[in-house]
Amino acid sequence: MDRNPYAIFLSEVILQQTRVAQGNAYFVKFLEKYPTVEDLAAAPLDSVLALWSGLGYYNRARNLHRAAQHITQNWGGHWREDVADWMQLPGVGPYTAGAVCSIAFDTQAIAVDGNVERVLSRIFHVTHTVGTAEAQRAFNAAAWAILPPKRTGQHNQALMELGSLICTPRQPKCAECPVASLCAVSFQPNAAEALPVKKKNAPVKEVILEWALYSILGHVALRKRTEKGIWQGLYEPPSREAWETDISWTGPNTFSHALSHRKLFISLYWARNIGGANHLPPPPEGCQWIPLDKRDEFGLPAPLSKAILKKMIYLMH
Ligand code: ADE
Repeated sequence: MDRNPYAIFLSEVILQQTRVAQGNAYFVKFLEKYPTVEDLAAAPLDSVLALWSGLGYYNRARNLHRAAQHITQNWGGHWREDVADWMQLPGVGPYTAGAVCSIAFDTQAIAVDGNVERVLSRIFHVTHTVGTAEAQRAFNAAAWAILPPKRTGQHNQALMELGSLICTPRQPKCAECPVASLCAVSFQPNAAEALPVKKKNAPVKEVILEWALYSILGHVALRKRTEKGIWQGLYEPPSREAWETDISWTGPNTFSHALSHRKLFISLYWARNIGGANHLPPPPEGCQWIPLDKRDEFGLPAPLSKAILKKMIYLMH
C-alpha cells in the first residue's frame, strides 16, 4: 500500500471540507497539479485558492499552503511521525494530526472527527453536549480505550467508515453493524438518534450582495475581496456604483446561495448593449479585467462561477 504522507494529509484536509464522493475529484486535481509537498509549497497562493474553488472555507486552503511551506522549510526532508509535530502546522488540529500520523506511520494516535464522535457517543453512551470540554474528554478517553496496538490508521478509518456508512445520524443500520453487541443503544433507534447531543445551531445570518457583471471582449472585471470574512482573497464583480461610465444594466436577477452559517442574497446585474467595442474600457478602481477562459486560474466564489457559466451558455445560443 502506498502511504504517502503528503497525499494522506491532502486528502484529510479536503475531506474535512466535503464528502468523499466530491472530495475525490479535488484530491486528484491537487495531486496532478502539485504532486509533491514541495510543489504545493512553491505554488502561488492564488493558484491554490483557484484549485480549491467551490469547496468553501478558503482559510483551509491558505493553511494547507502555509503548512506545505512549513514542512519543506523546517522538516529538512524528513516526515515527522509525532502528532505534536503535526499540530504545529497551521490549520492542523488533533483530528488531522492523529489521522495523518496513524494512517501514514501507524503512530499510536486517535483521530476523532464528527463521524467518530457519533459512533463513540452511541457505543459508550456519552451524553455530554458535543463541543464541551467534558464531551471532548469522554470522546478522547473512549477512543484511546479502544485503540489497538498496531494498524491504528486502519482502525481509525474503520471508525470513520462505520460512522459514515452504518452508524448514520438518522436510522442507523444496527443490523449491519459489526459492533452492535458492544453498543449501549443498538437496536434502539430513538436512543441512538438522540446521540450525540448537540447544541442548537446559531441562527443563520443573512447577507446581501450586489454584483455588476460586465463582460466584454471575453473578459470580466473582477476585484479581489480583501475584507475579512467570506471569500477573502477570492475575486468578485464590483457593485454597479463602482462603474463611473454610463453603462445600462439589466437585472437584477436575484438569487440566494446558502453557506453553512450564512444565507446570501445576491443581486446580479449584467451590462447591456456592449457589442461592437474594440477595446476594454478602464475597469473600476481596484478591479482588473480577467479573461473568461483563464477564470479557472482565479479563485471565484461558487455562485459567481455558476452565474458566469450560465451567461456564457446563454450567449452561445
Ligand atoms: N473521512 C475523512 N478522512 C477519512 C478517512 N481517512 N477514511 C474514511 N473516511 C474519512
